[in-house]
Amino acid sequence: LAGLQAAPGEGAAPREHAAEPHTLTILYGSETGNAEGVAERLGEAALARELPARVVDMADYKPRELRDEHLLLVVTATHGEGDPPDPALDFHEFLHGRKAPRLEGTRFAVLALGDSSYEHFCQTGRDIDARLEALGGERLLERVDCDVDFEEAAEAWRRNVLDAAAAHVIEAPAAAVAAPAQPAVTYDRQTPFHAEVLENQILNGRGSEKATHHIELSLEGSGLDYQPGDILCLMPRNREAVAGELLEALRLDPDQTVASHSGERTLAQALRDDYEITTLTPAFIEAYAELAEAEALKALLAEGKRGELMDYLHGRHIIDVLEEHPLEGGVDAETLLGMMRRLQPREYSIASSHLANPGEVHVTVAAVRYESLGRARHGVASTFLAEQAEPGETVPVYLRRNKHFRLPDDPDTATVMIGPGTGVAPFRAFLQEREVAGAGGANWLFFGNPHFRTDFLYQTEWQRWLKEGVLDRMDVAFSRDGAQKIYVQDRLRERGAELFRWIEAGAHLYVCGDAERMAPDVHAALVEIVAEHGGRSPEEASEYLKQLQRDKRYQRDVY
Ligand code: 2AM
Repeated sequence: LAGLQAAPGEGAAPREHAAEPHTLTILYGSETGNAEGVAERLGEAALARELPARVVDMADYKPRELRDEHLLLVVTATHGEGDPPDPALDFHEFLHGRKAPRLEGTRFAVLALGDSSYEHFCQTGRDIDARLEALGGERLLERVDCDVDFEEAAEAWRRNVLDAAAAHVIEAPAAAVAAPAQPAVTYDRQTPFHAEVLENQILNGRGSEKATHHIELSLEGSGLDYQPGDILCLMPRNREAVAGELLEALRLDPDQTVASHSGERTLAQALRDDYEITTLTPAFIEAYAELAEAEALKALLAEGKRGELMDYLHGRHIIDVLEEHPLEGGVDAETLLGMMRRLQPREYSIASSHLANPGEVHVTVAAVRYESLGRARHGVASTFLAEQAEPGETVPVYLRRNKHFRLPDDPDTATVMIGPGTGVAPFRAFLQEREVAGAGGANWLFFGNPHFRTDFLYQTEWQRWLKEGVLDRMDVAFSRDGAQKIYVQDRLRERGAELFRWIEAGAHLYVCGDAERMAPDVHAALVEIVAEHGGRSPEEASEYLKQLQRDKRYQRDVY
């Protein structure tokens, strides 16, 4: 915790003034890049108004600078369960700890990003906002909590907060902090690149209960570039059949013209291309409960019923609510659209190295298909890709850089990669890159899936790399082949002594895949391994891993 401790006798040393009194510090805590994007746009807008500003990732922020902040703007995301994003963990902990300074001289404002379909909506933003005030800071502007459709609210907050900040910036110097260089090409959700599908094949063998697709897209002519660890964002389309069910249940004319956020469309087109037509949110229930005069739904919205509301939302889609509580009077198309979220991009960890595959990007996509409440359900983007992304077709995509998931700078540094299921995707990119670059560092891969015979994704590629020495070790956990379930964390424990030696020798650890159960279980196994083989208490072992995270030697891409 070197950076966080107040050195004895610090008062005598000259205080660092990283933040000049007139500089706006824009601090972001980002997991998926949304908060980072908002922070960067805020920085650009500040500079455009000649307000000097610096944009800093919480992961890179030196907490001792906090006491000198004059104007502090925080943009932060929240994890599903109400926890801070990984890169914000240290800052959040510092702020809530005993070493946090008094902030009487600081004016602050917080923009919180979140997802209202989770119980602890925008919790990290709320925490930080409350804590900055408790430490004596003066709130420049009320906190704003944004839902997944955050753009408009974030833009309004940006204008307001800069108006408020401008009044407090004293004698801004002529030379502002340089604006970040604009990348040559930018595609985004509004203007995606239409990438041609080159290949789409199922990686699972016959009889598997999974359908994992390997999809190759062409970036030819886009000017796009990416690094291993980066993310492909896809703008999917909804299934026509799901839109059809809604139209039928509400007796709405599919061909009527509506004002969608993308412009004038037919209602059928708007439902297919522009809205989340399955996702149930508290806001939808609220509006629908009124329309349908559904007392049972209204009861779920009462104070203190948040848990019950979450249980109700879980496993249900919009169509289920329409059928359970039919509308007597019907609804007009625009009211319906106003109750639904904008269709969100979906993100996939890139499975290829651009260096090894110029002009191409590959992803590994598990088609989500299941049944609930007697209805077949289909993951929007995964089944769109699985079923619609045929060679010759195009799909709308853009890229997101992911600087928190990067190969070691030093090609001679070893890696340990833990990626069960589709979590293995970025490690294919890592190994392709290391092979082409001739990196000398050793590589160790842990992979898991239900069955060896049908679910050993990219098996021949790993085997070739093992043979050629690109991959030094591989441990697999086929969970359903034996009498007992075996997971990657079991393999980690079995190899604990050696794994700990790799870590001590400087290896970087990477975990990719399921965030809900796998990543915490793997983390717990790592704590045990460090404790057992490093002779540490569980607390010390946790701290050891935290330090690895701070040193960017333990990185996660979990979802
Ligand atoms: P299971 O589905 O047989 O339980 C990829 O999905 C692999 O991760 C599967 O083999 C799956 O096993 C396994 N898996 C499920 N839960 C896990 C957990 N908590 N930790 C690690 N792996 C898990």
